[in-house]
Amino acid sequence: MNQPTPDQLQIFLDIATEAVMAAGAILEAYWGRLETVEEKGRPGDLVTAADRDAETIIIKVLQRHVPQHGVLAEESGKLGETQSEYLWAIDPLDGTTNYAHQYPVAAVSVGLLISGIPQVGAIYNPFRDELFRAARGLGATRNRHPIQVSRTSDLNKSLLVSGFAYDRRETSDNNYAEFCHLTHLTQGVRRSGSASLDLADVACGRLDGYWERGISPWDIAAGVVLVEEAGGKVSAYDGSPLIMDSGRILATNGYIHEQLSHELLQVCSFSSLK
Ligand code: IPD
Ligand code: CA
Ligand code: CA
Repeated sequence: MNQPTPDQLQIFLDIATEAVMAAGAILEAYWGRLETVEEKGRPGDLVTAADRDAETIIIKVLQRHVPQHGVLAEESGKLGETQSEYLWAIDPLDGTTNYAHQYPVAAVSVGLLISGIPQVGAIYNPFRDELFRAARGLGATRNRHPIQVSRTSDLNKSLLVSGFAYDRRETSDNNYAEFCHLTHLTQGVRRSGSASLDLADVACGRLDGYWERGISPWDIAAGVVLVEEAGGKVSAYDGSPLIMDSGRILATNGYIHEQLSHELLQVCSFSSLK
C-alpha cells in the first residue's frame, strides 16, 4: 500500500468534510417534509428521498475531487474505480428510522478506506450542528476542537451503547442477550439508532464503549478513525483486529476494552465468528 502523506490525508479529510456538509444540508431541507417512507426489503429497513438525495450529492463531490477512487454507498452499492485501493464508504443518512419518525438523532458519515483500512472520516450531525473529523496520524476533532476518549476504567462505572440490525427478527444472533447482560453490569446501555454517532460519542468521551453486530462498512468506516485517533481502541469482539466486513465491531476508550470483550464472549453464542 502507498501510504498517503499527512498533506494528502488532510486533502481527503477536507473532501469528506465538504461531502458530509453538503449532505447535511439535504437532511435539513427534507426534515419534517418527507412525503413517503419506503421499506427496502426487511421489515423496518427504511429508505427515503433524503437518503437518496444526500447520497447523490456525496457521490458528486467525490466524483469531482477523486474520480480515480472507488465508492461503496449504502443505497447505490459499488461505483467508480472499484479496483482502486482507495474506497470511500458512504452512509448518507445514518439513523433513517429516527429521521423518518422525526426523532432528531441521525448523521451523515463518509469514510475513506485505503487497502481496506479506515484512514479518514467525517461525520456530521445536522441536528446538533456537530462535525466530527479524523485522519490517521492527524488526530480527531469535534467542531475543529481536539477530542479524546473518556478515562473510565471500570466496566461497572461505564455508559455503553449498542444497536440491533434489521435481521433481528430472523436470527437468534440478535444482540438481545448481550444487551441484557451488559445492562446489568454497567451504569447503562443506550441505543441511539445511529452507529456513526455512537462511535463519535465514544471518540469524544460521552460514552465509554460501543459494540454491534450486523453492521456494514459504511456505518463504521469514519467512526473507526475517530475512535482510534481520539485514543480509543477498535477491534473484533475477541480483541483481534477489526475485519471491516465481518459485521461485528467493538470500540471503547481502551481502558474497558478487555473487560467488555470478556463479557461479550461470555454471553455471545456466536463468538467463533469474532
Ligand atoms: C442503522 C443505524 C443503527 C444500527 C443499524 C444500522 P441506517 O443504519 O446505524 O444504529 O443499529 O444496524 O443499520 O439504516 O439508519 O443507515
Ligand atoms: Ca447506517
Ligand atoms: Ca443509512
